[in-house]
Amino acid sequence: MSIELSSHPLVRHHITILRDCETHADDFRRACTGITNVLMMEAAKQLELETFSVQTPLEKTDGARITGDVVFVPILRAGLGMLDAAMATVPSASVGYIGLERDEATAEASCYYSKMPELGAAQIVYVLDPMLATGGSAIQTIERIKADGATRVSMVCIIAAPEGIAALQEAHPDVTIMTGVIDRGLDDNKYIRPGLGDFGDRLFRT
Ligand code: PRP
Ligand code: URA
Repeated sequence: MSIELSSHPLVRHHITILRDCETHADDFRRACTGITNVLMMEAAKQLELETFSVQTPLEKTDGARITGDVVFVPILRAGLGMLDAAMATVPSASVGYIGLERDEATAEASCYYSKMPELGAAQIVYVLDPMLATGGSAIQTIERIKADGATRVSMVCIIAAPEGIAALQEAHPDVTIMTGVIDRGLDDNKYIRPGLGDFGDRLFRT
């Protein structure tokens, strides 16, 4: 499996806005959209093209279109913050929803909702979750979508902890991770440090 770390200056810019505890929800949402645009552009470089002939108003020329069905799977709730920006990169994509919540005491994630489109070898799946902490939520999600038939899966996150990367690499060595930044590590409550706090709470003002 490969880990891809974006070096785009806009990623550092937007992550700083997300980290800042003074950032209000409107700017937080805008920064989330801005960074997801960049990360998805980078993650989408792996998409394959088929060529065809296109007629312009003036003449025929060579054209290309992406092959395979793209599926976005945002992990509720925080992954929802990345969905609109991801859809803007591939507007024809299908969307599968999965709801997972970490137990506050154990940090173990449990699933409370799932609704997936068709998943198989033809689908290219991007799991969206801004925070890869212990990796438990991502690992469970990918287990489920592989059980449904998915074979080509990438993880797109904004902040990853080394612990989460290692756990995900061990559980799903075939999955590529695209992240905006790799932080120092987890604290005793399994929060990412320096991190940005609870992404879902900051996004939805809960
Ligand atoms: C957060 C975050 C991830 C998960 C990451 O979700 O959005 O889904 O924790 O942690 P992990 O890698 O240790 O599993 P949370 O459980 O807080 O739910 P929420 O998105 O509804 O706030
Ligand atoms: N989920 C969050 O929202 N933040 C963390 O630091 C870890 C998990």
